[in-house]
Amino acid sequence: MRIAFFDTKEYDRRSFQGVEDFEIQYFESKLNKETARLTKGFDAVCVFVNDQVDREVLNILKEEGVRLISTRSAGFNHIDLEVAHELGLSVVRVPAYSPYAVAEHTVALMMTLNRMTHKSYIRTLQGNFSLKGLLGFDMHGKTVGLIGGGKIAKIVTRILRGFGMRVLIYTPDPDEEAAKEYGFENTDLNTLYAESDILSLHCPLTPETKYLINKDSISLMKKGIMIINTGRGGLVHTQDLIDGLKSEQVGYAGLDVYEEEGDVFFEDKSNDLLHDDRLARLLTFHNVLITSHQGFFTQEALDNIRETTVQNWREFEAGDKLSNQVDL
Ligand code: NAI
Repeated sequence: MRIAFFDTKEYDRRSFQGVEDFEIQYFESKLNKETARLTKGFDAVCVFVNDQVDREVLNILKEEGVRLISTRSAGFNHIDLEVAHELGLSVVRVPAYSPYAVAEHTVALMMTLNRMTHKSYIRTLQGNFSLKGLLGFDMHGKTVGLIGGGKIAKIVTRILRGFGMRVLIYTPDPDEEAAKEYGFENTDLNTLYAESDILSLHCPLTPETKYLINKDSISLMKKGIMIINTGRGGLVHTQDLIDGLKSEQVGYAGLDVYEEEGDVFFEDKSNDLLHDDRLARLLTFHNVLITSHQGFFTQEALDNIRETTVQNWREFEAGDKLSNQVDL
């Protein structure tokens, strides 16, 4: 089977280099309407979160003979599933490569913003040993609200319960057994907004969750709230977040994902002008910490991505039931 592997980074190539039973061609470019014709003669495309697998691209893939869309991610909001289904293209994903990686990064963002260790690091390098502006708060005894109660949220819960925090979870499918086992409380969104000192997003991006964090929801939150997003950029209305930060209604923001990240994240843009004014504004706040979608980026996660992806390809090639198929 021939695989066209898009948005290849050096670490992907290294991770997949031992895979010998498939013919993989690596493309550094992202899959989009300009690059879709490169797939001529390939059976499958292997994509990541910022490839654009929309109607136009899917039509081209179909014309070029592609039969399988294999995403190296858990999220699949970058793929138009309805169109893939209409065209008879199968879609497979990696449902969980390391929920620990994302959960631990989520807590790293919280801790860094709280204790400002990113500022301390720069300061002490420059001989500045003052504590001015570094005042934090005890995590112990505070309330954290998680939106989404899946694999990542449960691990975040375990870690934060270890700090002695109260954990509230909103999910459309509350699970009382899990609440007992992990030590969280199921709640509704309004209670979560009103009672949380820290809010963290762990739900998929869907039409219902798009811009869940907007000026209306922000106005219901505690003044000075810390908002953490390691879910998907589109969960947060960026301009409303900026306005919340300016009015100090939002006290901190930790963002591993950003709604326009496709143009910049994962790339070294240090010699380029930043054309995205909202991202530029976010970067000016001392209480905003942006990481470029690195939540997943641990050795264990890369190994799991490779293993599950190769298993997906093997099942497809053998005509077996696809264990990680994404259905409509
Ligand atoms: P999961 O599928 O185990 O859990 C998702 C949870 O979201 C479930 O509890 C579900 O009930 C809930 N949910 C669904 N619709 C909702 C709604 N309308 N409102 C509130 N909750 C809703 O997924 P997992 O593994 O915990 O991942 C969560 C998200 O994290 C993924 O969808 C993905 O977007 C993101 N992610 C980010 C990564 C990163 O590198 N920053 C890496 C992996 C995932």
